[in-house]
Amino acid sequence: MHTSNALDPQSPQARAIYDLGIVSTIVFVLIFVAVTGAIVYAIFRFRGREGEPEIIWTAIPFLIVVFLFVLTLRGMNRADPPPAPSPDLVVTGHQFWWEAQYPASGAVTANEIHIPIGRPLSVRLDSKDVLHEFWVPELARKMTTVPGQLNHIWLQADKPGIYIGQCSEFCGTQHAWMRILVVADEPWKFEEWQRAQLQPGQAPTSDIAAKGLALFQTSTCINCHAIRGVTGADARVAPDLTHVASRRQLAAGILENTPANMRRWLKNPQHIKPGVLMPDFNFTDQELDELGEYLETLR
Ligand code: CUA
Repeated sequence: MHTSNALDPQSPQARAIYDLGIVSTIVFVLIFVAVTGAIVYAIFRFRGREGEPEIIWTAIPFLIVVFLFVLTLRGMNRADPPPAPSPDLVVTGHQFWWEAQYPASGAVTANEIHIPIGRPLSVRLDSKDVLHEFWVPELARKMTTVPGQLNHIWLQADKPGIYIGQCSEFCGTQHAWMRILVVADEPWKFEEWQRAQLQPGQAPTSDIAAKGLALFQTSTCINCHAIRGVTGADARVAPDLTHVASRRQLAAGILENTPANMRRWLKNPQHIKPGVLMPDFNFTDQELDELGEYLETLR
C-alpha cells in the first residue's frame, strides 16, 4: 500500500516545511520545560520577595520569536518560491476529482499525476466549482484551489514512487474520495508515459467493444466525458477517458481499476460513491459488458 506521511518528506519543498516544524517543536518544548520549571522553582523559592529586572523576561521571548521568524522566512523561501511564468502542470479541482493538464504537451488526465523525478514542477491550481485543497504531504505544502483565482505550488519528488494526496478542504459529500496519486518516475519513463497519453483513444478491437463505443456515443456519457479521437467526445465536465484503463484507480481512489470494478462502477456509481455527479444509468448486463470491454481497450 502506498503511504501518505507528512513526517516523511520526499522533496526539498516538503523537507523545508518538515525542518521548520522540527526546530519549532524543539524550541516550544524547551520553552515549556523552562517555564514550567521556573514556575515550580519560583513557587517554592521566592515567596513574597521582590522580582528580577523585567527586561530579561521580555528579551528572551523576543529573541525566540525573532529566531523562529528568520527560520520561517527561510522555510517559506525553500518550500514556496514564486511561480514560474508558465506552469508545467495545471491541476483543477472538481466535485469530486482532479483534472491534470500538461500545457506544454497537451496531455490531460485525471486523479493520477505523473511527474519526472529530480526537478521542481510549477503547478497552477484552479477549481471549477467550490473550494478544494490540493495536498500531497510527502512532496509539497497544501494549497487551496479557488474558483476564479489561480493559486500555485511547486511539486517535486526526489525518488521514484507513488505518493498519495488528498483533498483537504471540505467540498461536499464525497470530499473524502478525492484522492490524488502522484506517480514519480525517471524522466525517460515519464516522457514515455506522456507520449502514450498523447495518443488518441484506441479504436475498438472487438465487436463487443465496438458496441460499447456506440453506446458511449449514444448514451449521455458523451455529454460529460472526453475520449480523444472519438467524434463528439470532447466534453470536459468529467474525467477524460482517452486512457482510462491505464490508470490505477477509479472514481478518484475509491476502487482499484480492474475490469470487474469498472463494471461495478458503471452499473451503480451512486451506490459506490453516493453524491458523485455521475448518475445511475440502469444499463443492462449486456450493455455493461459492451461498455466495460470498450473502456478496457483505452490503455
Ligand atoms: Cu475537494 Cu474536499
